[in-house]
Amino acid sequence: MTDQPSETTPAAAREASAGAPADTGAEPGSQPLSERVDNRTHSPESSAFAEFMASQWAPAAEKDLPREEVADHAAQRRLRISKEHTGQRLVIPAGAPKVRSNDTDYRFRPHSAFAHLTGLGVDHEPNAVLVLEPVEPGSGDDAGDHTAVLYFHPMAGRDTREFYADARNGQFWVGDRPTLREISTAYGLRTRDLSELEAALSKDVGADGVQLRLVRAQDAAVDGIVDSARQAGGVELEQAHLQDDQLVERLSELRLIKDEHEIAQLRESVDMTVRGFEDVVRALPHAIAKPRGERLVEGAFFARARAEGNDLGYDTIAASGNNATVLHWIRNTGEIRPQDMILLDAGVEAESLYTADITRTLPVTGEFSEIQRQIYQAVLDAADHAFTVAVPGNRFRDVHDAAMSVLAARLEEWGLLPVSAEVSLSERGQHHRRWMPHGTSHHLGLDVHDCAQARRELYQDAVIEPGMVFTIEPGLYFKAEDLAVPEQYRGIGVRIEDDVLITADGNENLSAALPRHPDDVESWMQGLFESSETSSTAH
Ligand code: GLY
Ligand code: MN
Ligand code: MN
Repeated sequence: MTDQPSETTPAAAREASAGAPADTGAEPGSQPLSERVDNRTHSPESSAFAEFMASQWAPAAEKDLPREEVADHAAQRRLRISKEHTGQRLVIPAGAPKVRSNDTDYRFRPHSAFAHLTGLGVDHEPNAVLVLEPVEPGSGDDAGDHTAVLYFHPMAGRDTREFYADARNGQFWVGDRPTLREISTAYGLRTRDLSELEAALSKDVGADGVQLRLVRAQDAAVDGIVDSARQAGGVELEQAHLQDDQLVERLSELRLIKDEHEIAQLRESVDMTVRGFEDVVRALPHAIAKPRGERLVEGAFFARARAEGNDLGYDTIAASGNNATVLHWIRNTGEIRPQDMILLDAGVEAESLYTADITRTLPVTGEFSEIQRQIYQAVLDAADHAFTVAVPGNRFRDVHDAAMSVLAARLEEWGLLPVSAEVSLSERGQHHRRWMPHGTSHHLGLDVHDCAQARRELYQDAVIEPGMVFTIEPGLYFKAEDLAVPEQYRGIGVRIEDDVLITADGNENLSAALPRHPDDVESWMQGLFESSETSSTAH
């Protein structure tokens, strides 16, 4: 990775330290720590260099981007939130880049509320802020109560120092970035330079003026501007922060029912994830008995996601043998043994940032043992029963209860429960949860655990409605060290996770292309093993 220059370091500081011997005898700490990152840079300061850098570049052609399909959907989402916040200025930051280590950042991923309301996806746009400015009710965008303005730092010209000297924004460092006009035409938003944000947010704020509502803790600079404006306007901060939380809650609830565009994106993410699972099965024979074979599985899935231009919605869980009983096993350091199963929980995140979340538990050699099949079938039966309950009119929590009723009955049948299934299923029991401690379902969308800030009455206690997308993912996890079960169960973890779209009269399993029944899993795996053998001999 290349050293980064800085806009801020005084040249004098660099000159003073240039060529200095290792031990200068200088007081430790005489140079502020924040400037020391520049002690390793060699950015030229001469005006001759600056002039030469600013010259002889082919003209930068601003692109005439077509309007994105998502633009109209995002406008409708903004309209809904506008009608609920008449007279309030809503501030939704994309978020600031997150530092991974010292001065290197993670790939940028905007906050999901920002992505939902703008339609902007992968990479767009660090430090951008969407502002819904209150106007005369009914006179705003689409006859709403606000006009939407997107503030961001546009690409600077090649005649600027930023072009070559700003490692976070400069085109020389990070490649092309959009201009204000490009984003405006593609996403149907008014756009303004980020430098105008502070004045726009601070205007007329006060107890008797405009009220601000902010998605906090995404961008410290924006938090600072908003709170300063509030203080200057005599607004009580503690109360204002509670109102900020209500905006976050509403933005989360706004995503409970997916629109047509979101459903199409989720279908795409699921289809891409299915292709990743197929690649994993093809790679499986090569991962057996290799050191950290789980990493080879993780890598095979990621390679497919990246090759198709995408990322992951969350870190892949590639858990073989007893590791499958660790619910969020993302270390993936284990060796894969032929007698084991491997639990793969993975999801491709599309450019639009919608993610799939799918789990299959596969016998490593392509054939289940008797005990593996017995446990697998119980989990599948629980999932199948949950599917019959995941229909409009039932409550979200009924889906979980349905899965639990099957698992408790099966655990009772196998003699593992210390009480009857009935007692276990009652509130005072719950013994079966020892082997299935997580929830059966969560909403899915821009976040893998979508709508997580929604109120309980709109989540667990909500009536299921068409357009909801959630997972059904029962499991059974018998740890190697679990002395409450006979030895044959120990070290086996099974989860089957599908992504489900609620329709007008039932549901659609979006991930049905991946086999679930144990016979189908076996024949699907055999087919992929054979096809990959044929193609490797053909080469
Ligand atoms: N992959 C995380 C989950 O299934 O919820
Ligand atoms: Mn899940
Ligand atoms: Mn999952």
